Amino acid sequence: MKIIGTGSALPSLSVSNDMLAAFLDTSDEWISTRTGVKHRRILSTETLFDLATQAVEQALEQAKLTASDIDYIICSNLVNIYATPSFSSILQGRIGAANCPCLDINTACTGFVYALDIADAFLKAGKVKNALIVCAEEPSRIVDWTERDASILFGDGAAAAIVVPGDDLRAVYLSTTSNIDSLYYQRKLEFNPFVKRKEYGKPLVMNGREIFRLAVLNSISDINRVLDTAGVQKSDVKFYVLHQANMRIIEAIRQNLGEPEEKFPHNLEHYGNTASASLPILLDELNKSNQLQKGDILVLSSFGAGFATGACVLHWSGN
Ligand code: ACO
Repeated sequence: MKIIGTGSALPSLSVSNDMLAAFLDTSDEWISTRTGVKHRRILSTETLFDLATQAVEQALEQAKLTASDIDYIICSNLVNIYATPSFSSILQGRIGAANCPCLDINTACTGFVYALDIADAFLKAGKVKNALIVCAEEPSRIVDWTERDASILFGDGAAAAIVVPGDDLRAVYLSTTSNIDSLYYQRKLEFNPFVKRKEYGKPLVMNGREIFRLAVLNSISDINRVLDTAGVQKSDVKFYVLHQANMRIIEAIRQNLGEPEEKFPHNLEHYGNTASASLPILLDELNKSNQLQKGDILVLSSFGAGFATGACVLHWSGN
């Protein structure tokens, strides 16, 4: 596969650390130094479907395609207002795509890498010509805003990529190790007269230190593995496009790889952690600001609830 168009969209409301400190026992100093986050964008008036639609329109424009050219839609999403129908099927109608298959995946923050791998398989099999990948997330609706532990980390956003047949995915590694306790969100299901046990919904529960440790260890090993598989030297990598969860996580990975700071672009200071949208939003920013040249080698790496990880080596042949 190769990516021929990207797009991204963020909510208009920007929430600073000081705005959070007005109702949480926290401070700009604590959040900035422990995470790197300064602001996050939060959905208030727009909907997640609005953001996803904007991101898709940008990606289609860059790819010089129209919605009717799309023959497969893959959406990565943790939660949205609908448990069913799928996010992708709703988005299909919003963007005016034709009668194509629509598939939702939930591999937490690793969704973009998983989606690239799925699209690559369909494209290689000759089943699909123009696939649309959308990562759209509103973690602001799963965190507990009365607690300071997780709410300060996240922000909402959406990103899209159009992928067509090509040879740009040079290596990919995906993994999941069942680990529920360190990061989960539980929805309260509807009343069922046959279920007698008490059931509660629970906003996002996170063991921050455990996630930090797993994130750093797994990302380093995944990145080394995909570099090896692709036969790529670290010196050949233009950018490491990493999940935007915490600046200290990015820095720990960077130091272990022994690579310079300028190879690790970041935007988490503006947007917080936008779950699976974080990686393609950053990729779109690099693309739109002309920082990606034909022939560049990128390493993408992400981690999230599951505990799931995904990394790949991407050759950039551009649009
Ligand atoms: N403001 C002020 N103080 C706080 C806050 C806050 N928001 N949160 C915690 N504290 C306090 C704690 O209570 C603790 O106080 P104590 O020493 O008196 O007990 C102290 O700060 C240190 O707490 P730690 O949890 O040890 O802080 P740590 O340095 O580990 O940072 C953090 C916490 C930022 C959550 C970090 O562990 C982290 O980023 N982990 C990874 C989280 C992550 O990436 N999650 C998402 C991944 S998957 C996905 O994207 C869906």
